[in-house]
Amino acid sequence: MITLETVNLEIDGPKATIFLNRPDKKNAMNPQMHLDMNQALDEIEADGNVKVVVITGNGDSFSAGMDLEECFLKPYDDPQLFYRTNLVALTWFKRLKAFPAVTVAKINGFAFGGGVLVTGICDLAVASESALFGLSEINFGIFPAGGASWAAAHNLPRKQALYYILTGDTLTGRQAEQYGLVNKAVPAEQLDEETDRLVRKLLKKNPVTLHLAKQVYEHNRATDLPTAIDYDQAKLWELSRLTGSEWINVALKQFEKRAYQPGLSTYTRSDSTS
Ligand code: COA
Repeated sequence: MITLETVNLEIDGPKATIFLNRPDKKNAMNPQMHLDMNQALDEIEADGNVKVVVITGNGDSFSAGMDLEECFLKPYDDPQLFYRTNLVALTWFKRLKAFPAVTVAKINGFAFGGGVLVTGICDLAVASESALFGLSEINFGIFPAGGASWAAAHNLPRKQALYYILTGDTLTGRQAEQYGLVNKAVPAEQLDEETDRLVRKLLKKNPVTLHLAKQVYEHNRATDLPTAIDYDQAKLWELSRLTGSEWINVALKQFEKRAYQPGLSTYTRSDSTS
């Protein structure tokens, strides 16, 4: 366990877990937490073996979002300080979106503002049914910024996104599942088990393929079909080279021997747990 001032990081082979750790402040993200998150991502990248990163909160909250006092109120009158303070946050939000490993938000409680943003940036999300989400920015006079509107626009249907942006109303984990903000909502006591189940599935896949699958998805959702097809072809060559053509030499050889049915399960990798 790597213990930073406001974040704990556990790297267990191919799985890393980041614990936001300001439970008394509902894991509100203050400038120190933004620095710590950048450092945690540095550590994971430096490790080089992590395939899946889970982000969760200690205590009863995932995150109550940006620290309204330390990030906004206190530095506001010094424009340079305000800029620098929030740049650290915006940097790790962008890094998280492009992170090579698969990112999974594990929403254990309150998730407001920046908490919704992190949920929306992560590739996948599992929530406690009783988790409470909210784009509360409108309640203190601004619109969801720093990527939070992007997160709403890319994870919720339009009417729901605008409803929650404009009213600041809360939604439960169950509603978040219904609208697609999280993949699954489960009773609180099943949150660990459900997340572990998802992580185990991901760990069986080739890490290069996971990374490129994310890249291809993100690129192709923002482009036209001919461009997407050309991009797919180029990325498939890249994948083949970077994986030693594992899909041909291992996966499809196993299929040739009828060792598995790709429609129903995955091929066996020699390092499937690493
Ligand atoms: N920024 C700074 N401090 C925050 C915070 C935030 N985003 N969210 C919670 N805190 C602080 C509270 O001010 C309180 O501090 P104190 O003990 O010094 O008084 C402490 O965390 C505990 O919060 P409290 O409000 O007492 O807990 P609660 O369980 O009654 O309510 C919330 C939890 C999340 C509903 C409530 O704290 C809240 O509305 N927070 C703001 C959420 C928000 O608008 N986030 C968007 C930011 S972009």
